Amino acid sequence: MSELPNDPSNSAPVEATQELTELLADIASTVPLARTALAGATDLKRLEEVRVEFLGKKSKLSDFSTRMGALSKEEKPVAGKILNARKGEITALFKQRQDELEARELEQRLVRESVDITLPGLRTIRGNRHPVALVAQQVTEIFTSMGFRLESGPEIETEWFNFDALNMTDDHPARDMQDTLYTERGHVLRTHTSPTQIRSMLKLGAPLAVITTGRVYRNDSDATHSPMFHQMEGLLVDENISVGHLKGTLTTFLKALFGENVKVRLRPSFFPFTEPSIEVDVWNEQRKGWMEVLGSGMVHPNVLRNGGVDPEKYTGFAFGLGLDRLAMVKYGIPDLRLLFENDLRFLRQFA
Ligand code: PHE
Repeated sequence: MSELPNDPSNSAPVEATQELTELLADIASTVPLARTALAGATDLKRLEEVRVEFLGKKSKLSDFSTRMGALSKEEKPVAGKILNARKGEITALFKQRQDELEARELEQRLVRESVDITLPGLRTIRGNRHPVALVAQQVTEIFTSMGFRLESGPEIETEWFNFDALNMTDDHPARDMQDTLYTERGHVLRTHTSPTQIRSMLKLGAPLAVITTGRVYRNDSDATHSPMFHQMEGLLVDENISVGHLKGTLTTFLKALFGENVKVRLRPSFFPFTEPSIEVDVWNEQRKGWMEVLGSGMVHPNVLRNGGVDPEKYTGFAFGLGLDRLAMVKYGIPDLRLLFENDLRFLRQFA
């Protein structure tokens, strides 16, 4: 046949019929192929690839259209009709698969993006004040409302401010290494807030009314003593100040803190920096006993002098109290160490 390409006996009708047969067979076999390929496309991206393969411009079906060009006039419409029917069938199968996959993807997206509005929200953990800070704040508010001014001093103090200026001589037992934490070259961790008495007088002069709250340090540690604890200090200096003023001020303070019906008792005591010295007790109804809450007294003339204040013209009173002890009494805390362990289960109770 190759030697006789133009032989009319070998041409069109016989070969064309065979071509038509082959073409129709190929067209027919395309539908199950497409069906399998569509079933294998499990997402929309793969489905698009299948569409291009079967229905696109360079697809199998467009290939059949090209092959149709070689058919006779009579055969063309026959093949065309069949091709169109199969194309329609494959297009329908594609649409059906597309709908399926789109529905599946939407469903998956809904599951993925669903929000359970019944779930509890994320909580922000809020901090709260430490019980000692709470008491310090209350005490400060009471005294500032009476006209006292808030002052502060360093925690590393010179021996002069901590002891000498407060009339505590070299042989005073508090200066012993046993009680005091020495740093270097005449410095100590302040053992009380009283050095701020001297600092305030030197800074502000007389008359004055100041308070200080802050950390103090002593070489001591058990259920009722911590090497670091907190004190509040008060000092008032003016002309003609007497024990009556001291008693009135401290009674007012204790009523504000413990309530109007608080029972207060003044008791003689001794501090080198006050003369006379007075300890103040408050009646504890639960324990049926007096409870010591603060030390106080009339400022010693030597102390006024060391603060640059003329003791001939001015007198004053001073007082100091332990804020940790006050917090323990106020909140019923049995062991001082609880205040310094930073256990959140304990601290959160003061929120
Ligand atoms: N500084 C004394 C102490 O630490 C307390 C105090 C202060 C006493 C002021 C009298 C006047 O115990």
